[in-house]
Amino acid sequence: MKPGFKMAKDIYWVGKIDKREVPFHRLLLTKGTTYNAYLLKTGKPTIIDTVDMEFGREFVEHLAELIDPLDIQYIVINHTEPDHSGGLAALASKATNATIACTEIAVPEIQQMYKLQHRNFLVVKDGDQLDIGGKTLLFKETPYLHTEETMITYCIEDKILFPCDIFSTHVAVDKLFEDESELDIMDDFTGYYQAIIHPHRRYVRTLIEAVKDLEIDMIAPSHGYILRNDISKYITLYDTLSSKTTEGKKVAIVYTTIKNNTKKMAHILQDSFLENNIEVELWDADKSAEDDILNSIEAADAVFIGSSTKYADMIGNLENILRKLQTLNLEGKIAVAFGSYGWSGEAIEVVQDYLNGTNMVVQSTSHVIKTTGMTHVEFPIRIRFSPKEKEKIIKIQNAAEFVSDLLLSSI
Ligand code: FEO
Repeated sequence: MKPGFKMAKDIYWVGKIDKREVPFHRLLLTKGTTYNAYLLKTGKPTIIDTVDMEFGREFVEHLAELIDPLDIQYIVINHTEPDHSGGLAALASKATNATIACTEIAVPEIQQMYKLQHRNFLVVKDGDQLDIGGKTLLFKETPYLHTEETMITYCIEDKILFPCDIFSTHVAVDKLFEDESELDIMDDFTGYYQAIIHPHRRYVRTLIEAVKDLEIDMIAPSHGYILRNDISKYITLYDTLSSKTTEGKKVAIVYTTIKNNTKKMAHILQDSFLENNIEVELWDADKSAEDDILNSIEAADAVFIGSSTKYADMIGNLENILRKLQTLNLEGKIAVAFGSYGWSGEAIEVVQDYLNGTNMVVQSTSHVIKTTGMTHVEFPIRIRFSPKEKEKIIKIQNAAEFVSDLLLSSI
């Protein structure tokens, strides 16, 4: 496919096929990839997404063969990661009359990444529509698919969905319509889902809701194949793979507490798991038999251990239990440290050290960021004083939801 290929009335593919082995999210894309961008040559000409920054100048040169950049009225940025927004610096310098349409969270990112502080932005919200002169774009926010600022764009008249990374494949093929490909795309399509989208499967549920009432004749993503045959097959696959199909999971929550703040955290965790139909056993380590607690931990799929901090250390009977955990085979279980504190919260870090001495999979903020790119989920869970304010409760719930998703994942 060459830039300028016509996909539908007044809609052109203007992307780049990159046949190199591309390093990406700690993967090596051995089949290369494409950066699909689109020109909607309407009464108010609009670009949807751009290409990797390495190909920005080439992108604009090809585009200029189809349209005078000064005529471009809108540049829609569905996602700010540089493989899609990277051509924006080159494009914006030529398309000086264009307004950049994106979510509110994307504005400062684009401004700072590409020094575009003085450009016109159109902040779009979930459900907003934009008349681009002969066609209408509908925007749906899809946060965390796979970064916080993401949205998808739907052209109402042509029934084409432009979902950027979502429904993509990493392949550098010349025939981008999947129904024209000689290859079976399902392995590549599913592999992409597993690597890029599945860590955010909770948010795929939002996507499924967002697209369920749309009539879609074509999905034009920003990597790989453009889908126009049996569209529902691809949406159903995302629906199925992101659904919670695993049953019978169990969590043990063990805590010691001084003024009930760590106990309150334990109860917020418990409520979150119960909402996800995950069984919880809750133990005050100073009021329960040690053997019962250890048996509960051995039977659990995830273990949360919390302590308040007093004189820079844990309190109560927790240390005995943590010592015994070092001698048990707890392989494969998820482990999380938590606690309330007033000054520095040393006890939480001591619990974390003990957990790291077991063969459980101990959750850490660093691991979450490296595996999912999420920055709103923090481990260990540290709460200063009482967990009564809304943001503290949300912080605890985010951690519980993250672990719930790990436990309930169908793949
Ligand atoms: Fe294809 Fe999230 O970048």
